[in-house]
Amino acid sequence: MTTPILQADDAGIARAASLLAAGEVVAIPTETVYGLAGSARDPQAVARIYAAKGRPGFNPLIVHVADTGAAARIGVLEGDARRLADAFWPGALTLVVPLRNDAGIASLVTAGLPTVGIRVPAHPVAQAVLRALGQPVAAPSANASGRISPTTAAHVLDANGGLDGRIAAVVDGGASPVGLESTIVGWRDGRATLLRPGGVPSEAIEALIGPLAPAHALAAPDAPGQLGSHYAPAAPLRLEVLAPERGETFIGFGPSRPGTLTLSATGDPVEAAARLFDILRQADRLGRPIAVAPIPDGGLGAAINDRLRRAAAPR
Ligand code: TXA
Ligand code: MG
Repeated sequence: MTTPILQADDAGIARAASLLAAGEVVAIPTETVYGLAGSARDPQAVARIYAAKGRPGFNPLIVHVADTGAAARIGVLEGDARRLADAFWPGALTLVVPLRNDAGIASLVTAGLPTVGIRVPAHPVAQAVLRALGQPVAAPSANASGRISPTTAAHVLDANGGLDGRIAAVVDGGASPVGLESTIVGWRDGRATLLRPGGVPSEAIEALIGPLAPAHALAAPDAPGQLGSHYAPAAPLRLEVLAPERGETFIGFGPSRPGTLTLSATGDPVEAAARLFDILRQADRLGRPIAVAPIPDGGLGAAINDRLRRAAAPR
C-alpha cells in the first residue's frame, strides 16, 4: 500500500488540508460516499482528480463547501434552490445552479458548463477538512471511473480497481452513514428536475417545492454519466429476482428473502442504502453471477434501484 491512511484526528485533518492546499488530491469521507477531493480553484488539482479516476474529461464535478454562504458565492442560490439549500444543507443534496461570473472555480470543474453542482456535506470530517482548508473542493466519488462508489477508506484503496498509489492520502472517517451518492436537482427551462436520485428521497424534496420533472432519456448533455452502465461489479447481475438460480449469489432484502447476503434482514431501505455498495463488493468477490431480490421503490428505494439498474446494465 503506497497511499497513506490518515486518522480523522486534528493531525490527520491538518495534513489533509495542507496536501489539498498544495494541489494534491485526497479522499475524504462524506455522509453519502467517500469523495476524491482537490482544490476547486486549482486547475492542476482538478486535472489530478480526473487523472486518478481515469474519468472522461467532460463529466463535471460537484463543488463541496462548508456552508450555504460559501455556496452562494459560487452559484446563484435563489427561489426554490435557496429553499432546498435551507431545508437540506448540510446533507445529501446537490443543487445544479447557474455559476456566478466571479465564482473563481477552475473551468475544468464544471467542464465548461454555465452551471455548477454544489453540496454542503454534513459529515463532521468533511466539514473539518473544508474549514481547515478554507477553500471549496471539487470531489467526485473516490472510485475509478465506472466502478462501485466507496463507502469506507478500505474501499477507496481496494486492490481491485481502487486508487491506492494514485492519490496523496485518504482520511479514514469510518463507514459513510447514508451509503448512496447525493440526490441531484437542477433546473431546465425553469423546471426543477431530478438529475439523479440519491440520499435525500425525492418525496421530501417534492413536499417542499412541488413535483420534480424526471431526467429520463436525456438528449441534453447536462447530466453526463447519468445513463447506462455505471457502479459496475465484474460479475453479471440480475434484478427483481424472487428465487435465485443454482450457482448465483443471492442478495436478499427483507425477512422473506434472506439470501446469501442481505441488504437488510428487516426490509429497511435506509439500512439497505447504507450497505448497498459494500454488499455489491462482497458479492463480486464470491466470483459468481449475482441475483438481487426486489426492493420497493418508495423513499431511498428509488435511488437503490437506480444504482442496481446501472450495475446490471449491459457493458
Ligand atoms: O454524494 C455525492 O454526490 C458524492 C460525494 C463525494 O459528494 N459525489 C459524487 O460525485 O457522486 P460524482 O462525480 O461521482 O457524480 C456527480 C454527478 C455527475 O454525474 C455529474 O455529471 C453531475 O453530478 N454534475 C455535476 N455538475 C453538474 C452540472 N453542472 N450539470 C449537470 N450535472 C452535473
Ligand atoms: Mg461517481
